[in-house]
Amino acid sequence: MPAATMAVMPVIEARELTKVFRRPDKSEGLRGSLRHLVTRRYTTTSAVDHVSLSIEPGEAVAYVGPNGAGKSTTVKLLSGILVPTSGEVVVGGIVPHRDRIANARQVGVLFGQRTQLWWDLPVRESLALLRDMYGIGPADYRAQLARFDEVLELGELLPVTARKLSLGQRMRADLAAALLHRPGIVYLDEPTIGLDIAVKDRVRDFLRRLVADGTTLILTTHDLGDIEDVCRRIAIIDGGRIIYDGGLDGVKDTFARERCMHVRLTTDVDPQSVAALLPDAEVTPGGSPGEFTIRFDRFVLTAGQVIATASSLAEIDDLLIDEPAIEDVVRKVYSGELELEPAEDGVGAGVGA
Ligand SMILES: Nc1ncnc2c1ncn2[C@@H]1O[C@H](COP(=O)(O)OP(=O)(O)O)[C@@H](O)[C@H]1O
Ligand SMILES: [Mg+2]
Repeated sequence: MPAATMAVMPVIEARELTKVFRRPDKSEGLRGSLRHLVTRRYTTTSAVDHVSLSIEPGEAVAYVGPNGAGKSTTVKLLSGILVPTSGEVVVGGIVPHRDRIANARQVGVLFGQRTQLWWDLPVRESLALLRDMYGIGPADYRAQLARFDEVLELGELLPVTARKLSLGQRMRADLAAALLHRPGIVYLDEPTIGLDIAVKDRVRDFLRRLVADGTTLILTTHDLGDIEDVCRRIAIIDGGRIIYDGGLDGVKDTFARERCMHVRLTTDVDPQSVAALLPDAEVTPGGSPGEFTIRFDRFVLTAGQVIATASSLAEIDDLLIDEPAIEDVVRKVYSGELELEPAEDGVGAGVGA
């Protein structure tokens, strides 16, 4: 192992983590159920398929992918709620599914889709129960409530029964419940889903502070703003496999294939003649004579080739290349229309931290 990677021990380490779900096949009628009893046919889904992740203390990692990609299943494996089919997972020195109680002390988990508050109790009572479960002392408890009131305006929610909370209020109370025992490791699975902008901003601000204080965070979200505001590293999962793990900027380099170049030539040139020389690109005339916009796939043409072609027609007066927008990439991740280029560096290999 190179010396550089020995310096910091990862706090979350998953190696070839795999979860296969088996569901009995549905067959029609009595014959079907008899056959089912005898032959036991199952459909299997590899919800998480040989996932390896190594996360250092204090890192904030966005975990994104289309619906059904395996994000929640990964979080459940990391928190010990599910037992892996194969592979290994160690979190803070603990194997989560073998020692769920010890793991719960060091980890805070929030599933945005369901609450961990007691439905019929006022928020205050739910938090008091958690305080007793975790053995939090009175002074620390007061300090935590004050902190949550400051950043999440929790105070106004304390007397309200969980079932009466709006979604945004519920998420604020659930965040407090997940973080009450000051866990050093936090998994948030869609914590901003369905929240309005104002609440989202508040939650993001809260998460930024959490990370600034040294918390290790895995954040599953559909929201690009959450990712950009809170995380520097992004892991993308698709069909149970990690297809990218690295910096936010690298995502654009890896997945944003289309480039858009604006060119102004010193003399007027017919757009047709530009298009004729660049059959793989899309050439559209710009606002004034000699101006063009050229869209091309960077795996088909290089910017250098496009510039060389344009300058073979006339001298280039000015040139601008649009930055690919990470929004576009993340939107494609979620709609499942990412185009991968297997030969490209990093893709499919887990570029890794
Ligand atoms: N308890 C379960 N039993 C059977 N299949 C499941 C179960 N939980 C999840 N799955 C399947 O595993 C895959 C991944 O699900 P999930 O981890 O919830 O995805 P995500 O959170 O990325 O939307 C999906 O195909 C889902 O249908
Ligand atoms: Mg999910």
